[in-house]
Amino acid sequence: MIPYIYYPKITIDADALNQVIRTFDGKFITDDRELARLTFKPSEDPGLTMYQRIVDNYPYMVEFQKQIPILGPIFNIYIFSPYETIDTHIDKSRLCALNIPLSNTDKADTIFYDHVSDKKQYIDSRALDEVEEGAELFRFNMNKPVVFNTTIPHKVINHQPNYRISISWGFNCDFEEAVDFFESMRVL
Ligand SMILES: [Fe+2]
Repeated sequence: MIPYIYYPKITIDADALNQVIRTFDGKFITDDRELARLTFKPSEDPGLTMYQRIVDNYPYMVEFQKQIPILGPIFNIYIFSPYETIDTHIDKSRLCALNIPLSNTDKADTIFYDHVSDKKQYIDSRALDEVEEGAELFRFNMNKPVVFNTTIPHKVINHQPNYRISISWGFNCDFEEAVDFFESMRVL
């Protein structure tokens, strides 16, 4: 088992997820630039970043969580601008996440790096520690849902002219425990 990512055997209703992230005041937003503008506003919930949403506020997410109860109470919406890079970091608010592709994720690189030093700086607005980048360990293009080890330094490069959209849903456990959960589901 590689310690960076794991592909779980799950099916996800992408249309339902698009409804979750693209519906504002009952209107479905198709334009990605407008979607980014509407999505990234200071949260009304103190303690949440612009990216974070509360699972309990979305009936589809609550139902989905019932199938995978190790999923935590918060999910993130990531909308990368054209050609945007998120520098090498480790996540602070969770140990691993279920990352779900929605748009153009196959045209962006996700790269893991060796951990060489302590943090450079904490980015409060994104709840992450930027860290020094060591040797490259592994890279992939996300084209299906993946369990992602957010404790290993990683960077995402969107090298194409469209918005890259995904959901990243933190687990209540570490990477190994999440993998064990999905492996035991396969046996059932
Ligand atoms: Fe991250």
